[in-house]
Amino acid sequence: MPSTSFINKIALVTGSGRGIGRAIALHFAENGADVAINFFRNREPAEQTAREIEKLGRRVLLVRADVGDMDDLNRMFDELEKEFGGLDIFIHNAASGYNRPAMDQKPKGWDWTMNINARALLFSAQRAAVLMEKRGGGNIVSISSAGATRVLPDYVVVGASKAALEALTRYLGVELISKGINVNAVSPGVVETDALNHFASMGSQDNILQKFVELVPAGRLVTPEEVAQVVAFLCTSAASMIVGQTIIMDGGYSLPVPK
Ligand SMILES: NC(=O)c1ccc[n+]([C@@H]2O[C@H](COP(=O)([O-])OP(=O)(O)OC[C@H]3O[C@@H](n4cnc5c(N)ncnc54)[C@H](OP(=O)(O)O)[C@@H]3O)[C@@H](O)[C@H]2O)c1
Repeated sequence: MPSTSFINKIALVTGSGRGIGRAIALHFAENGADVAINFFRNREPAEQTAREIEKLGRRVLLVRADVGDMDDLNRMFDELEKEFGGLDIFIHNAASGYNRPAMDQKPKGWDWTMNINARALLFSAQRAAVLMEKRGGGNIVSISSAGATRVLPDYVVVGASKAALEALTRYLGVELISKGINVNAVSPGVVETDALNHFASMGSQDNILQKFVELVPAGRLVTPEEVAQVVAFLCTSAASMIVGQTIIMDGGYSLPVPK
């Protein structure tokens, strides 16, 4: 028997074919939930994730949708409603972005990044809330990052989108809690996924990561499974008084450590 049961729950995780989203989708499925997998560019890993969920004996729906596109986003919720009839858990994990200095940014990159990373949360929450109310409530959790509050190299537009995500989390948290829908976010430190591959173009990935790890009080990177566990905790009744918050899980990296 799993320690935290999500049996009879329905979860939708955006960007869940690979990386952190995949770990979150598998965690919910391993603990009893039926899961909708959303992907955009990479069908193969998404199909693989869906097969793993099926092997666990859960129902799975695979939806290709660009969550930054309003038609695609609405179709994703239409397909979910048709297949499952309701929703208990919505995880806004998908993210993208134009990484370059502020002076080199273009409106196209701003729109692309903001629409996927921030706008998708607001308009997904509108659709999710209707489906969750029918089932007596639910949980919405988004994945933010340190760039929301700190300055990271070439991260200006993603950082702004994650700051917007965290603000949306507070507003949605307050507005939806009276409907039994709890909204929070998780902000992990560096998690080892494909997203780190861009370091390869800056030199030895291992070397850069090793230098970073030396600055983390916990002495290591975060794993995707650990992110999934914190996300899942926020979807339990034990977390019901945590409302509109962004939970930082970075091994102590963002704390000012006196040298
Ligand atoms: N990795 C880290 O160190 C780290 C640290 C802090 C926060 N985060 C956050 O954690 C989340 C997941 O990160 P990750 O490292 O797993 O990222 P990743 O490996 O870059 O994966 C991004 C995911 O988002 C999906 N995606 C991108 N654009 C999309 C769109 N327009 N519509 C739907 N899906 C889209 C991708 O799907 P396709 O491949 O199918 O396109 C993929 O599944 C993100 O919100 C990220 O900002 C990551």
